Amino acid sequence: MLLLLLLALNTLASPSQLQTCLTSLSFPVLLPSSPSYAPACQAYNRRLTFLPSSVVYPRTPAEVALAVRCASSASVPVVARSGGHGYAAFALGGQDGSLVVDLSGLKGVEFDNGGEVMHAQTGNRLGEIASALKSVGRALPHGTCVLLSGVSRFPPRHAAFGGFGFASREWGLLLDRMIGAELVLADGRIVNASLEENEDLFWAVRGSVSSFGIATSYTFLTLPEPPVTTAYSYVFSGNASSAAQCFLAFQAFSASSAPPPLGMQFFLIPDLTYELFGSYTGPKAAFEDVFLPLVLECEKTSDTHAGTHAFAQEMGWEAYLVSQVGTPPRVADCFYAKSLMTSSTTPLSQQTVEKFMHYLFTEGPKHPHLAWFVEVDLYGREGSAINAVPKLDTAFRHRDRLLGFQLYASSGNLRPPFPEDGYAFVDGMAEVLSAAPEGRTLASYANYVDPRLGQGEWEDMYYGGEIYDRLRKVKSKWDKGNVFRFPQGIVPSEEREGEGRRVVDEL
Ligand SMILES: Cc1cc2nc3c(=O)[nH]c(=O)nc-3n(C[C@H](O)[C@H](O)[C@H](O)COP(=O)(O)OP(=O)(O)OC[C@H]3O[C@@H](n4cnc5c(N)ncnc54)[C@H](O)[C@@H]3O)c2cc1C
Ligand SMILES: *[C@@H]1O[C@H](CO)[C@@H](O)[C@H](O)[C@H]1NC(C)=O
Ligand SMILES: *[C@@H]1O[C@H](CO)[C@@H](O)[C@H](O)[C@H]1NC(C)=O
Repeated sequence: MLLLLLLALNTLASPSQLQTCLTSLSFPVLLPSSPSYAPACQAYNRRLTFLPSSVVYPRTPAEVALAVRCASSASVPVVARSGGHGYAAFALGGQDGSLVVDLSGLKGVEFDNGGEVMHAQTGNRLGEIASALKSVGRALPHGTCVLLSGVSRFPPRHAAFGGFGFASREWGLLLDRMIGAELVLADGRIVNASLEENEDLFWAVRGSVSSFGIATSYTFLTLPEPPVTTAYSYVFSGNASSAAQCFLAFQAFSASSAPPPLGMQFFLIPDLTYELFGSYTGPKAAFEDVFLPLVLECEKTSDTHAGTHAFAQEMGWEAYLVSQVGTPPRVADCFYAKSLMTSSTTPLSQQTVEKFMHYLFTEGPKHPHLAWFVEVDLYGREGSAINAVPKLDTAFRHRDRLLGFQLYASSGNLRPPFPEDGYAFVDGMAEVLSAAPEGRTLASYANYVDPRLGQGEWEDMYYGGEIYDRLRKVKSKWDKGNVFRFPQGIVPSEEREGEGRRVVDEL
């Protein structure tokens, strides 16, 4: 049956017709025969390898459109690549045989109204965006980046599937700062989408862009650069029960006392130290007033003689962004990760948290060849700008979450192969949370995309029924032929039933 399905799909796609069309274009095209093809097709996550039918490097939206037309008439799936840092290598297709439209040639940035409005083409890296903002004294909420260098995480997908940083509780997600997008559609048309124009498309872009078109530019409403930010880190050591106590204090503080300028995460690594890490948009004295009670709670149960350290420092915005980058910054990794977000109304119980820490402290040491971490971001609650947005305003569903867990394991040297036991270890972490009574209230963040989630599972965990159904309707309108397709892509409303029938007919 699988074979029949593959045969059916193969007869639809025609790589050679695609190649003929692409080679007539006047911008760079890499075919599998090219010496640069292999390096161009390496995923950031080296656990995954996919072989695209070609990679193209357009320099303008019009050139993007020409490439999309070639693929569309040859029935070859099309994906865009911006930073290429997606966890599942969907920017290489997430399967073999796709056309990859690499956007690194689109680096334009323009400002209006003295910097208040930013138009950024989608080939810019997050570091380049941050540098451009700095030149006009403005800022945006986003994840960390490396200023002025090529290595960084990048807004497009980052922006379109969330874009979370420590400033997000005060400023919103990067996608909430977006006021417009320019897209190349499946038929090669170039359109703008905003609240005024193609509003349904704009709705879908903010939460699910890759199934709808290739975004060539985004327009953001920027914010004044804050004069002072306090970056901090408090590291504790202890045992599973002290880690659970600290986590429960962190969760209670998150739900009740954390003001919007406070960004924070609970972070646990293989040496079994745990850390409260983050930043506060404001001076150190104000930060300490708010935060030291939580530190004291964690100190109560931790081992104060070993490995404890405290750091809090005021800095300017640029220095702050630089301080958030790991040294050396990762240029590639070989990993498996999962995401789970808790509901604002259903905190994790003491029993669940104790089980979770027990799992990490007993199972973790059995995997010395894995580099793993558990990161838990404070995301919502009191005054969080993320949760102030009504749920159906965008296709991004997570407006009622308190904490976001990222469960992550890399091979020890960050290179392939990925150790087989890494899957079970990470799945086991998620299982402790999902199997708890509060487990059915969990959801997942699509920027930490997990290609091992099954069909019904990712639909539900990333989008939920209401948003997912609407996305399928919007997909039918803008990409009926499903040109922009990849694993975990939105399929048009009619298609899934149709596909099923075709396979059954052939059997
Ligand atoms: C080290 C690291 C740290 C991270 N930290 C954070 C963080 O702090 N906060 C956070 O929110 N996220 C974070 N992330 C997750 C990050 O947001 C995602 O990995 C994001 O997908 C990276 O964007 P990208 O442009 O590199 O994606 P790509 O890999 O280029 O693309 C991802 C997906 O989007 C599609 N796509 C890309 N560009 C376009 C476009 N222009 N139009 C349409 N579809 C497009 C691709 O086809 C693919 O399906 C981090 C990731 C890494 C690797
Ligand atoms: C999209 O908007 C920009 C200005 O924001 C404009 O320059 C461009 O012509 C518009 N494109 C289309 C197809 O309307
Ligand atoms: C954890 O450490 C505390 C403080 O040192 C100790 O009282 C407690 O018994 C320890 N718990 C376990 C499960 O080892």
